[in-house]
Amino acid sequence: MALEIRAYDLILKKRNGSALSADEIKYLLEGYVQGAIPDYQISALAMAIYFRGMNENEVFYLTEAMINSGEAISLEDIPGIKVDKHSSGGVGDKTTLVLVPLVSAAGVPIAKLSGHGLGHTGGTLDKLESIPGFRTDLSVAELITGVKNTGAVISGQTENLVPADKMLYALRDVTATVDSIPLIAASIMSKKLAAGADRLVLDVKCGSGAFIKDYEQAFDLARLMTGIGQHAGRETVALITSMEQPLGRAVGNALEVKEAIMTLRGEGPPDLEELCMILGGWMLALSGKAADPEEGKAVLKDLINSGAALAKFREVIENQHGCGAVIDDSTLLPCAEKQVMVKAETDGFAARLEAEQIGIAAMALGAGRETKDSRLDPAVGITLEKKIGDRVEKGDTLAVIHARNDTSAALLSSTEDRIISACRFQDKPPVKTKLIMGVVDRRGR
Ligand code: URA
Repeated sequence: MALEIRAYDLILKKRNGSALSADEIKYLLEGYVQGAIPDYQISALAMAIYFRGMNENEVFYLTEAMINSGEAISLEDIPGIKVDKHSSGGVGDKTTLVLVPLVSAAGVPIAKLSGHGLGHTGGTLDKLESIPGFRTDLSVAELITGVKNTGAVISGQTENLVPADKMLYALRDVTATVDSIPLIAASIMSKKLAAGADRLVLDVKCGSGAFIKDYEQAFDLARLMTGIGQHAGRETVALITSMEQPLGRAVGNALEVKEAIMTLRGEGPPDLEELCMILGGWMLALSGKAADPEEGKAVLKDLINSGAALAKFREVIENQHGCGAVIDDSTLLPCAEKQVMVKAETDGFAARLEAEQIGIAAMALGAGRETKDSRLDPAVGITLEKKIGDRVEKGDTLAVIHARNDTSAALLSSTEDRIISACRFQDKPPVKTKLIMGVVDRRGR
């Protein structure tokens, strides 16, 4: 007679540093989703994984068990090589808004599933929902028809996509086990693989504004995620990119849509443009539409110069019932009544601009969610007039706070203080950190 597996024994096994088998991981995850294994045992397991880690095979098994907890999406009916991108989240990160229409304009079909934001980093869906009428709750059938007709769709995750991740993430969030590399890798990759694309480009953010602050950890995560992708037969490339300062100048939902439109017009901030060109170049190379990322970049530049990328964004917006006229007239986007200039108190070169602090300041104004139930204001946020490396004279405007007429004086003042304390100045120009810190491709480099 076969011995019965017990969750207790498997927790003990992981706690003592041994690897779990595919069947054991499947048993734990299925039991959890079906309610047979309680929260407290899975919390203990998550903590054991946090301290003991997981080998590559265990992470593959976990990812697979998570995908099997729900219904994966099949994009097989859509002709062509489907490419997806993912960012691990940062302040001012509006790359999806630029990349999806841009890469789609090159003929790559994209079915992008995104999320709402929580905490100091914004969510792509929140940004898109600032466009009047824009729908982010498409069904799978609408998603597929949208990609067939328009070439690209950006929508929310379907209810039954990796339900195990929703449950496990909520538990990790309250048990101090979010920042475990194997758990993050399985969480992100289960959702990406279940979303059905053939090839993946991952943007692993690293720095003060990201939840991974350290390069070695970012590299481990990038290597593990590309390994999961290859193991599943989906070619995956990960770029490790700097999140020391906000990306671009705008932080706040409608402000970021406006900046994405400017970037698609060829008038965006240099760092955002550079990142989009590099990630997009890789997307084109993986899709076979370019021989390599450099050639991909050249194709994308032409699509911006010809206006094709911007026209594609209008199509994507209109396909999802949004007001496409925002492309030509940004006053149709929500706009805050009050602009408050934050002035520099000293001279020097901007040497630090802590992304996390700027993100928290924008969140406090209403641009982000402190808790899942917080209400967002799409119009508010912060625009940065100075970025790292810029020369600043005392009295120059460092940033502009976009607030409502009824925003309290106390909130305006604390926002201003937070922005000022996020900035550091020095006499000499700082050594700039590279925006692209590393690339991990199929060879694991
Ligand atoms: N993003 C995810 O989707 N999952 C994690 O675990 C962390 C970041």
